[in-house]
Amino acid sequence: MDLGLKGRKAIVCASSRGLGKACALSLAREGVDIIINGRDAKVLAATRDDIIAATGARVTAIVADVGTPAGQDALLAACPEPDILVNNNGGPPSKNFRELDRDALLAGVVQNMVTPIELIQRVVPAMQAKGFGRIVNITSLSVKMPILGLDLSSGARAGLTAFMAGPARELARHNITVNHLLPGMFDTDRLRNTTGRMAQMQGKSETEMSAERMGSVPAKRFGEASEIGEICAFLCSVQAGYITGQSIVVDGGLFNAV
Ligand SMILES: NC(=O)c1ccc[n+]([C@@H]2O[C@H](COP(=O)([O-])OP(=O)(O)OC[C@H]3O[C@@H](n4cnc5c(N)ncnc54)[C@H](OP(=O)(O)O)[C@@H]3O)[C@@H](O)[C@H]2O)c1
Repeated sequence: MDLGLKGRKAIVCASSRGLGKACALSLAREGVDIIINGRDAKVLAATRDDIIAATGARVTAIVADVGTPAGQDALLAACPEPDILVNNNGGPPSKNFRELDRDALLAGVVQNMVTPIELIQRVVPAMQAKGFGRIVNITSLSVKMPILGLDLSSGARAGLTAFMAGPARELARHNITVNHLLPGMFDTDRLRNTTGRMAQMQGKSETEMSAERMGSVPAKRFGEASEIGEICAFLCSVQAGYITGQSIVVDGGLFNAV
């Protein structure tokens, strides 16, 4: 299917590795000009080279912390009027909720709620003027289902989801869609780190913990990052213009509900 995105421009935040990289790669394959981002310049440059080699797309790498005003300025200076914004960021580390002090709580909320909202505020005027915009927020299955130890991440992302429910409806008349992708367990660095911390918290080995987590997924495997990337590209497509305000769970059946 031709997604109708050739020549469009996308900012994909936090995209040097993992799910963000997969979103950038899938959009690049559709002929989208991509701004990729991460804090480690070396890793980011290697990712830019990978995406160009695989797709021939125009890829610009912006080394920046997306959670800071300066980082956001740098992304928007590289692409002032993106057609597509993929909001992604690191998540707070796994921690017992009792150990989160005020600074940690506020940092988590800035990371996973305030930052994406600020970027959305900055990109929608140009999208509105063009009559086209696609915004995809990578959140987490934990918005719908508790994951002990990731409570701050869950709360901040649920806040983002609820916050955007109204604006998504207001923006729909301008052909701007806002959707959320809720990954379950995807085989990335982040999953390996959280599994390690959970193993520590529960007094298990990492291998044991990983097998236990995988075994809890009805599909009996972790997701591949490309499976998020391809859905992200579809949500950005011309064809997906009537899907907005949705939280799309991608979890191999883990969320056990009708
Ligand atoms: N993997 C899963 O199973 C899963 C499940 C649910 C939710 N999620 C969420 O999805 C998001 C992506 O996860 P992932 O698994 O792809 O993680 P990952 O493999 O650890 O990759 C994270 C990416 O974000 C970049 N990044 C982190 N902090 C950044 C910052 N402040 N500014 C700019 N870039 C930043 C990293 O690059 P640098 O470190 O170089 O900056 C890297 O490119 C996370 O928020 C995670 O919590 C993941």
